[in-house]
Amino acid sequence: MGAQKIIIDTDPGQDDAVAILLALASPVEIEVLGITAVAGNVPLSLTEKNARIVCELAGRPDIPVYAGCDRPLKRKLVTAEHVHGKTGLDGPELPEPKIKLQEKHGVDFIIDTILQEPKNTISLCPLGPLTNIASAILKQPKIVSRIKKIVLMGGAYFEVGNITPAAEFNIFVDPDAAKIVFEAGIDMVVMPLDVTHKALVTEKRNEAFRQLKSPVGIAVAEMTDFFERFDKEKYGSSAAPLHDPCVTAYLIDPKIFSGKNINVEIETKSELTLGMTVADWWGVTDRKANTFFVGDLDSDKFFSLLTERLGRLPI
Ligand code: RIB
Ligand code: CA
Repeated sequence: MGAQKIIIDTDPGQDDAVAILLALASPVEIEVLGITAVAGNVPLSLTEKNARIVCELAGRPDIPVYAGCDRPLKRKLVTAEHVHGKTGLDGPELPEPKIKLQEKHGVDFIIDTILQEPKNTISLCPLGPLTNIASAILKQPKIVSRIKKIVLMGGAYFEVGNITPAAEFNIFVDPDAAKIVFEAGIDMVVMPLDVTHKALVTEKRNEAFRQLKSPVGIAVAEMTDFFERFDKEKYGSSAAPLHDPCVTAYLIDPKIFSGKNINVEIETKSELTLGMTVADWWGVTDRKANTFFVGDLDSDKFFSLLTERLGRLPI
């Protein structure tokens, strides 16, 4: 099987950065056609810049980066500087990007690529709020039947919320967009907090990144050192969850992960539980399954894959 053609939709964010690096380190399994930035962890002006910084860190200035939507479909933007720092990539000192942002809007890049490429050959990998994906579906509904699959990070069930007691950040920021995407009928794989909270960067695992002694390995270790302090304070955990790299690792080796085909609906009305992913894990409704909802992973396999692949990026 040739490399899977994907578009990464992202709000970097340290964990987004690691997910992008993993994808770019794996050209046999993954061909990144482009990266579309969305407002999320930090405003769009920073997420698009961070995406360009990460492509250069990976030694891939050829990857086109597009700016997408700068706010949710209907609601006010909520950002997460308290987790990711004011730049969104706090931790390492990384140079200003030289590569230019593409002129085209990210939503139009998604639409044009899916219409131009053969049907069922393009997968979308959203790592942030689903505003760009939903906007593309609203603008050009014809893309729905042509998308191969969506593999996204978002939501939670047993782990409940990380931005409110009920909701995970990516879904909470734009619940209306999430509802459109989850109801579109597209083949979906969802990496919720239930699995990403088991992808914990322990001291030993972070040291393995540092021991790569490459600019990428050191930068990833420094990003994690910064990023983990939020989860340590909040959950008292000894390590940071690497959320977004679960998406790109799944594309490389899906056997690392396990889950169930279930129905997931998005709460968009209640102010109390806004953005909650109501996951019918136990099949107590007759609602049709619409996602493969991942609940677990082999974390040792995950981290050895991630470390080995990051080690392939330029010295
Ligand atoms: O809740 C975790 C998700 O929100 C991750 O994608 C992180 O980067 C933030 O976007
Ligand atoms: Ca993200």
